[in-house]
Amino acid sequence: MRIEPIRAAGGRSAHIRHDDDLISAKGVSVVMARQLVLSNIDLAIPKGSFVSLIGPSGCGKSTLLKVLAGLVEPTSGSVSIAGLSPVEAARKRMIGLVFQDANLLPWKNAVDNASMLLGIADRSLSRAQLKARGQEMLDLVGLGDSAHKRPHELSGGMRQRVAIARALALDPAVLLMDEPFGALDAITRDSMGQSLLEIWQRTGKTIVLVTHSIDEAIHLSRHVHVLGIKPGRITESLDIGLPYPRDLSVTEDPEFVRLVVQLRTMLRASHQPGGAS
Ligand SMILES: Nc1ncnc2c1ncn2[C@@H]1O[C@H](COP(=O)(O)OP(=O)(O)OP(=O)(O)O)[C@@H](O)[C@H]1O
Ligand SMILES: [Mg+2]
Repeated sequence: MRIEPIRAAGGRSAHIRHDDDLISAKGVSVVMARQLVLSNIDLAIPKGSFVSLIGPSGCGKSTLLKVLAGLVEPTSGSVSIAGLSPVEAARKRMIGLVFQDANLLPWKNAVDNASMLLGIADRSLSRAQLKARGQEMLDLVGLGDSAHKRPHELSGGMRQRVAIARALALDPAVLLMDEPFGALDAITRDSMGQSLLEIWQRTGKTIVLVTHSIDEAIHLSRHVHVLGIKPGRITESLDIGLPYPRDLSVTEDPEFVRLVVQLRTMLRASHQPGGAS
């Protein structure tokens, strides 16, 4: 088995076994408030992949993301991120999180918000180094010329870009995103998805995206996992064979349209409690 260091920010290194997946969940179940929220989840996500989770409201998508981030402990089963527990991986800054709400600090400008988590994680960095890193990440998300603006001067889409920049500033191997574009209008959402795709292609991150949008899941992902309800579980998985690089014209491809119909059918079945599995 070949083992070699993978890139991690600030000279940190983690090791990944080449025949393993970067993210692996085996038999993960979560019980909260005496409710079986997640049941027997198996996931195998290769390094550099783009995976979406889709399913009815309340089926446990956010909980699963929190399990992967080390924020919720599984009641049974195990999760590994590059061979580490999620808590260890998070400690090594291998996990970046983006939520539906950008949660920026209102009194800080975009560049300071973008570098904020990095500043907390690495106290040795000077103010100038943090600014430079923040600016680099804002450039990456297409907000380079808005560095001086504070959150109230930015649109919702721009604030989400800052939140993505803030997560990327840590140079995490894994980006976990929970409905990051859920509050945006359809057209802004399309262009944010396309930007995310380009960032993914440039950075090689492994991305797990929770979304309610069938089109978004197919436009962006290599694999889509459908979660069902009561209990939350993976009911079906769909490979998206559309070639990369993809742009928004992919939505007019007959294969895209076929996948939309297929995923919609899967999603409908996932709304049945204890249904298709
Ligand atoms: N801290 C908690 N304590 C008790 N129950 C919880 C907790 N967090 C989530 N749950 C329950 O777990 C289930 C799944 O919640 P979760 O937020 O993961 O769903 P979701 O798929 O992300 O839904 P949505 O699409 O609406 O965001 C729900 O029934 C919710 O009430
Ligand atoms: Mg959720």
